Amino acid sequence: MPHDSFDIWAMADLATPFAVRTAATLRVPDVVKDGPVPLAEIAHRCRAEPDPLGRVLRFLVHHGMFTEPETDVFGPNDLSDALRSDAADSPRAWLDLDGAVGRADLAFVELIEQVRGHHPAYPAAFGRSFWEDLAHNSQLSDSFDELMENKTQDIAPLVVAAHDWSVHSRVADVGGGKGVLLAEILKSAPHLHGILVDLVGPSRNAAAYLDEQGVAERAEVVTANFFEPLPFEADCVVLCDVLGDWDDEDAARILQHCARAAGPDGQVLIVELLPDNDRMAQFTELDLRMMIYAGGRVRDLDRIQQVAAAAGLAVEDFTPLDNGYAVIECRPQR
Ligand SMILES: C[S@@+](CC[C@H](N)C(=O)[O-])C[C@H]1O[C@@H](n2cnc3c(N)ncnc32)[C@H](O)[C@@H]1O
Repeated sequence: MPHDSFDIWAMADLATPFAVRTAATLRVPDVVKDGPVPLAEIAHRCRAEPDPLGRVLRFLVHHGMFTEPETDVFGPNDLSDALRSDAADSPRAWLDLDGAVGRADLAFVELIEQVRGHHPAYPAAFGRSFWEDLAHNSQLSDSFDELMENKTQDIAPLVVAAHDWSVHSRVADVGGGKGVLLAEILKSAPHLHGILVDLVGPSRNAAAYLDEQGVAERAEVVTANFFEPLPFEADCVVLCDVLGDWDDEDAARILQHCARAAGPDGQVLIVELLPDNDRMAQFTELDLRMMIYAGGRVRDLDRIQQVAAAAGLAVEDFTPLDNGYAVIECRPQR
């Protein structure tokens, strides 16, 4: 086969990602972590059917994951160990087809219809929007909060270091999930009062999280919809990884409500991944995911500035972080 054609088949393959995700969802790497295990026992412990599971595992063995030291006995290798639940930086939870993001990835089957302009992908795949889906299923909603917790634990210390919090007294984290970033901000600035704002599911988890982090006394949790006027005042409003979930019009509406809550002298901080030449593969992939999951998009600084301007905000400053994100500081336009 000519080389280019071979590369295209490899790029377009669907068997490998689905086989890896099936193994991840069933937690096969955890079951075989101590050494080879007979297929019947793996299937029993994973609550799966032996014949199809064996065919998936054998396929994966021939693609570099797991070993098969004797027929119908499967063991671990470096790749399966990296997919264990307890591996450092394990991708398992992100690939779990029963979790919010693994499930959302399945909406890529509707990409062609979204591109043709027929319908948005996620509602076509699952009958309702991503956020409605989470609201109807607490297991999905909790899995999403945990994934966001994981992601934000890496980002939060960088955001905290990039901004002078001493000038604020009340900081709100809008769409703040469980409160990972807010907790980190409050820990770094003992004078601050914090407000965590999110929908019912995440805000249910936030109170316990803020308590565990030892900042509950200086924090309140507000359940609110950011498409309606926000029921609090704060001199700094943070939006971390929120605007990318929405199209420009919705993003501007969210910013408008945040700007109103921050008042004429307040600040709105937008934390988002920005494009840079070294990370265009990551940026464009996230852009597609945002489009498929929620009809959103990731933006460059110019486009963020335009959306902010539509909400009456001016970008005053921005601080790039080491991981490709930036903290973009906005104030009401004078
Ligand atoms: C991508 S997550 C980011 C969470 C958190 N800021 C972080 O970075 O870990 C987006 C958040 O927006 C929240 N959200 C979505 N729609 C919302 C709405 N209409 N009102 C308030 N929050 C909403 C979600 O529940 C979720 O926690």
